[in-house]
Amino acid sequence: MPQSLYRPEPVLSPTAERVDRRTPVERSAARLREGETLLVTDAYSTGADILDALRRQLRPPGEDAPYAARQAFRRALREASLRLLAPIEAHRVMLAEAAKIGFLADLYPELDHFALPFVEVQSLHGAWTLYEEGVHLTVLGYRVHPFYGTYAPTRTSHLELFATWLSGYEGPRTRAIDVGTGCGVLALMLCRRRFEQILATDCNPNALESVARELKRFPAPLPIELFCGDLLGDDPTPADLIVFNPPWTQGPVEGLLDRALYFEDDLFERFFEQARARITPGGRVVLVFSNIIALVQPDVPHPIEAELARGRFKLVQKLCRKVKNPPDEEGRRRRTKERVEVWELETE
Ligand SMILES: C[S@@+](CC[C@H](N)C(=O)[O-])C[C@H]1O[C@@H](n2cnc3c(N)ncnc32)[C@H](O)[C@@H]1O
Repeated sequence: MPQSLYRPEPVLSPTAERVDRRTPVERSAARLREGETLLVTDAYSTGADILDALRRQLRPPGEDAPYAARQAFRRALREASLRLLAPIEAHRVMLAEAAKIGFLADLYPELDHFALPFVEVQSLHGAWTLYEEGVHLTVLGYRVHPFYGTYAPTRTSHLELFATWLSGYEGPRTRAIDVGTGCGVLALMLCRRRFEQILATDCNPNALESVARELKRFPAPLPIELFCGDLLGDDPTPADLIVFNPPWTQGPVEGLLDRALYFEDDLFERFFEQARARITPGGRVVLVFSNIIALVQPDVPHPIEAELARGRFKLVQKLCRKVKNPPDEEGRRRRTKERVEVWELETE
């Protein structure tokens, strides 16, 4: 099972120069930029300091810099960062000050000695902390614990809007499908609303692992079945409700995790095709979406409006709500034109 999980690629026999706190950090950062691979041998802070220096040397563009410049910076930083390695032994990061990362045993059960890019160790550490602490979701009234590599909501206005929609839903509750379930939040909301059977799907195996672990936290079994694969999967059983919180902008999908944020050309077309085949007569297809696409990608055809124009579905209602940005360090909220949306469709 863990073999099929998404995980950072282990480096099995690293050929790398060893660096520690006696090596000048600026020099180490420059060597990473020049293409050398380095292995940190003493302390976690040594690795963190080298990556900070690398970031400074690559000169991060300001927040207002063009998208292409910010993207180029991120790529260069990532490429060079991946050449700084950390040693892993017996599922522990072998550096002073390194905290426990339980995911190392979950993701690399078959490996005892290897190395990982330091930047991946940092992200595994962040993910482990989030997993252990959990994320409190008001719409559920409890914490969910996203597994490594699983999309977890950072803002919640779209979930609150979906909760508003769901509280007005009066249709049948025999079966629902939550497409692209992530850490399972929509499926768990459907469960609280007493749907009898819920199929939660995702193309990311870590998302299904996340929901499977979540389900084990409940004292009694919940009626959530899991499917790892594309969109609605291949079980032809019809559903009264199909919900999808898809990626909200079009973009390059280079890795599994990009699929949470960016959609490729045909994603919506395939989703609507499958939803049309699977929805019960009078059933509802509901998309949690945002006007962000109109704000940042005005040239990209709107995927839901394009489907409505084809005439296979009609709009029952569309709910919208303003998004509030979280306050910055000085307590000020940046104004935004962003709105979250819930689109409720039925077949013609
Ligand atoms: C924006 S996230 C939403 C996650 C969760 N439903 C929520 O509301 O927090 C989109 C999810 O859809 C999944 N996804 C993207 N394309 C998919 C596809 N073709 N088939 C199945 N899942 C997909 C992603 O892996 C990701 O977990």
